[in-house]
Amino acid sequence: MSDALHFNAHAAIYDRGRPPYPAALWKRLQDIGLLRPGVRILELGAGSGLATGPMLQAGASVIAVEPGEALAALLHQRWPKATVHLSTAEAAPMPAASFDLAAAATAIHWFNLDVVLPKLHRTLVRDGHLAVWRNAFGVPSIAVTPFRRRITAITARRGDYAPPPPVPGEFDTDAWIDQLTSSGYFSTTHVEHFRWTIELGTDQIHDLFTTFSNWNAAEVDEAAQAVNDLGGHVVEHYVTPLIILKRTATD
Ligand SMILES: C[S@@+](CC[C@H](N)C(=O)[O-])C[C@H]1O[C@@H](n2cnc3c(N)ncnc32)[C@H](O)[C@@H]1O
Repeated sequence: MSDALHFNAHAAIYDRGRPPYPAALWKRLQDIGLLRPGVRILELGAGSGLATGPMLQAGASVIAVEPGEALAALLHQRWPKATVHLSTAEAAPMPAASFDLAAAATAIHWFNLDVVLPKLHRTLVRDGHLAVWRNAFGVPSIAVTPFRRRITAITARRGDYAPPPPVPGEFDTDAWIDQLTSSGYFSTTHVEHFRWTIELGTDQIHDLFTTFSNWNAAEVDEAAQAVNDLGGHVVEHYVTPLIILKRTATD
C-alpha cells in the first residue's frame, strides 16, 4: 500500500513509531516569531498530532486537517485543544483571512498544490506565512552506517519498485521551493536544515518502518532483524529541512 491512507491504516503504530521533530526547529519558529501565544495556525495533514502538540504547547490555537479517520481520532484524543477537521487539504474549509500561519509537517508532498496554494493564500492574513518541514533519513555528509547498508540492500531488491512522490529532503529542497513559489502565491523567507541523531531499538525500527508507505511487512521484518544483528540498537542520522514562505500581496 503506497498511498496516503497507509498512515491511517497503521495509526497507532504511526503514533508511537515516528520520531518527534527536533527541538531546534520549534525554537527557530519561536525565534522568528511565527510560533507564539495566540497565533492562529492551520495545520494540514496533521496525522496523530506529532507537530500539533508542540504548537499547542507554545500557546498557539490549531485547526488540524487530517483525512484519515483513525489518525484524526488519535489526534483529538491526544490533543483535545486542537480543532480537528476530517478532510483533505484540498477539500478543507478555509475561510478568508483567518490564519496567521499554515503548517505542513511531512505532508506537503501529498497535496495537489494547484488547489491548495491558492486556498492557503486566501485563508492567511495579509502578512501570513506557510511553514513546511519534514523528517528525512540520512545526512549525506555522514558515512553510510552498517544499518543503512542493510536497508539499501533490502530496497535494492525491489525490481520494479516505483518511489513515492519526492519530498523536501536534503537534496530536493530547491525543487520544493520552486514548486511552492512558482505560482506566485508565496515567496521564501527562510530555509534551514536541522541535523540530529536518534538511537532506535529493534521494536522502534519495526514500528517506524511499518509507517513507511513504500515498505511491505517482510521488508520491515528484515529491517528489524538488521537491528538485532547489529546489537539491538542503531543510531540514525536525520535531517529536517524547514522552508518558511510568506504570503505575497497579490490581492
Ligand atoms: C507522513 S504523515 C505526517 C503526519 C503528521 N503531520 C506528522 O508530522 O506526523 C502524512 C499525513 O498527511 C495526510 N494526508 C495525505 N493526503 C492528504 C491530503 N490530500 N490532505 C491532507 N492530508 C493528507 C495523511 O493522512 C498523513 O496523516
